[in-house]
Amino acid sequence: MLVSRSTIPNHPFADIPRTLRFSRPAGCYLEIRDRSSRSGGFGRAGKERDMRDALRVGVVGASARGGWARDSHVPAIQALKGLELAAVATNGRATADAASRAFGVPGFPSGLDLVRDGDVDVVAVCTRVPDHREIVLAALAAGKHVYCEWPLGCDIAEAEEMAAAAAAAGVHVAIGLQLRRSPAVLTARDLVASGAIGRPLSASALSTTMGFGPEVPSQFLYLEDPANFANLVTIQGAHTLDLALTVAGPLTDLGALLTRQFPIIRAGDAREERPRATFDHLLVHGTLGSEAALSVGVSGGRTGSTPFRLEVVGETGSLLLEGGAPRGLQSGRVRLSRDGSPQPVDEGELADLSDAAANVGGVYAALRDDVREGASTSVGFDHAVRLTRLLTEVFAASETGRRRTADGWPVR
Ligand SMILES: NC(=O)c1ccc[n+]([C@@H]2O[C@H](COP(=O)([O-])OP(=O)(O)OC[C@H]3O[C@@H](n4cnc5c(N)ncnc54)[C@H](O)[C@@H]3O)[C@@H](O)[C@H]2O)c1
Repeated sequence: MLVSRSTIPNHPFADIPRTLRFSRPAGCYLEIRDRSSRSGGFGRAGKERDMRDALRVGVVGASARGGWARDSHVPAIQALKGLELAAVATNGRATADAASRAFGVPGFPSGLDLVRDGDVDVVAVCTRVPDHREIVLAALAAGKHVYCEWPLGCDIAEAEEMAAAAAAAGVHVAIGLQLRRSPAVLTARDLVASGAIGRPLSASALSTTMGFGPEVPSQFLYLEDPANFANLVTIQGAHTLDLALTVAGPLTDLGALLTRQFPIIRAGDAREERPRATFDHLLVHGTLGSEAALSVGVSGGRTGSTPFRLEVVGETGSLLLEGGAPRGLQSGRVRLSRDGSPQPVDEGELADLSDAAANVGGVYAALRDDVREGASTSVGFDHAVRLTRLLTEVFAASETGRRRTADGWPVR
């Protein structure tokens, strides 16, 4: 299905035709090729494609100074066959120029500029969570495939709006829950599903991060505002829970306890003391399937090492996934052991990628293959809506002290 401009009402880009000349911020003109409308474009699902063409990706939020996009998205795109870094965007002319020089592609001073003027097939949205919606909706309205970082939106309503827009646009989308594309995780999932460890009895996960300690530098202060939906529960907690569900099966109910290890934070350069508004420790317990027990603990503010482990014990064997990274488990590689012995995992085209880029590379590879083959194997926005719903129940369970029962949660 093609994007109908009427499907995303009141959107600023709702009336932009597919092939236009736009004035670039620098003053020169750039022809926008409607690659989907000619044989050989990747621009639209269901169109004839030329396999010689790489999928052109524009990364929004790719600062040369640092950040997740620079550390994971850019190297993943640059390393994988069939993908090409075609444009970057930041939130200003000077940083866009610096990013353009650093990455060797056109740089745009905002995500909306990249969507409008960039010659790209895929828009990767790697800005902070409150900035996702506008750019995602613009990209979908322009007929681009979209890879949006997790969390998708600031609440269920935003996530649902983007999921509906993606479905109406008929393009391919992927959500940044990249552990689902880790070869070790996929191997563990398949082993459990094939009965290799027998009936699952329990799954227990512990994950840690340096974030959400008592010192909060200025650039991380937005994480302390619950309204931004970017905190220990919605980031490290979500990745940990999602990983456990991927490997061990869906949750049928849960209880939760959210606490503050550091109830007073020292904020910004001035180290101003103030109460912590969000949480820095998470405990979840629940039932997997009909009877297996799940326990999950997520701790912020860990200095030194930041380990992660998920152990799944079955009637006839056990699996252990281990890893950990300062940002949290999701931003590193994980290793797999079975019954205490390390398991070799073939990482294929992801083998040479850095720890931060490897699993993100897996998401891009799946998206690339989906576009090429007209398939839909990528974990997309519908799953993001389900996980967002589950997280709101985690908050509710902790607040009320009552168990919550699955209703529209992730199925696996
Ligand atoms: N999946 C993961 O493991 C993982 C890890 C880290 C961060 N993230 C996610 O990645 C995103 C970025 O996180 P970060 O830590 O790199 O944040 P950051 O603040 O360091 O970087 C965000 C970048 O977005 C740019 N930006 C802001 N508004 C923009 C706009 N309108 N147009 C274009 N660029 C704009 C800024 O210039 C900045 O470079 C967030 O959604 C975060 O939740 C995911």
